[in-house]
Amino acid sequence: MRTRIIGQRFIELSSVDSTNKYAADLLAAGRAVHGTVILAHEQTQGRGQRGRTWLSAPGLDIATSVVLSLAEWPVADQFALSKVAALAVHDVVADAMRYHVDGGTGRVRIKWPNDIMVDRKKVAGILIQNEVVGGSVKGVVIGIGLNVNNSDLDAGLNATSLRIEIGLPQDRMALLELLCQRLEHWLDAMLRQDPALDDRYRELLWSRERFAHFELDGAPMEGRPLDVDRSGRLLVETADGRVEAFGLDRLRFAER
Ligand code: BTN
Repeated sequence: MRTRIIGQRFIELSSVDSTNKYAADLLAAGRAVHGTVILAHEQTQGRGQRGRTWLSAPGLDIATSVVLSLAEWPVADQFALSKVAALAVHDVVADAMRYHVDGGTGRVRIKWPNDIMVDRKKVAGILIQNEVVGGSVKGVVIGIGLNVNNSDLDAGLNATSLRIEIGLPQDRMALLELLCQRLEHWLDAMLRQDPALDDRYRELLWSRERFAHFELDGAPMEGRPLDVDRSGRLLVETADGRVEAFGLDRLRFAER
């Protein structure tokens, strides 16, 4: 890997239950080196958000977890890690689209909190698991599932892949290397407290300043996503012009 840290330790597994679980076990055993990347060619029990399972096609998609070990990062700022991951995956997808699809990059967006979308379809999902010690985030597992060469996605899933969008098979290892480079870039930005991290995330928010359908406490609601606050709550302008912050415990985008 042409990186400084992320991916310098690289564990490639032909098959595993979940790379996130594998990474969390390494952390728990105190054997995780900062920047370790775990790639599985097949994942049998991939974990998704909200306890869901994540399916990736064996040998075709990317299922990877990156382990970070941070010195002092306040729990109150842990959403910054979501931004790092989402921006890195965004950059990889946008870069692939840039070469092959006219106007492709502008179609890639981050759907709060960290789904990567091409137009209205999800191309990648992120699951972050933090190990918190006394108010600080110490160990971090960033799990990324990117649909790369699978061209046989269930229509009901509202998902897409790079192969579907671009029409050509993609080189998974080249994508993984770029992913590590972009993670390194955005992690540096986070640690330097570079405002570019927040600015770019805001710019790329899916449906930003446009009305979207949500469920708030289970009831339908319309609003315009504007930004996120420090703790990662979505700032939404409601139909009556008020701006309110909602967490994932209350708000989600409506399923189409
Ligand atoms: C989501 O539901 O959108 C998050 C999906 C995250 C999937 C990735 S695949 C690699 C890593 N290992 C897992 O078990 N999950 C994450």
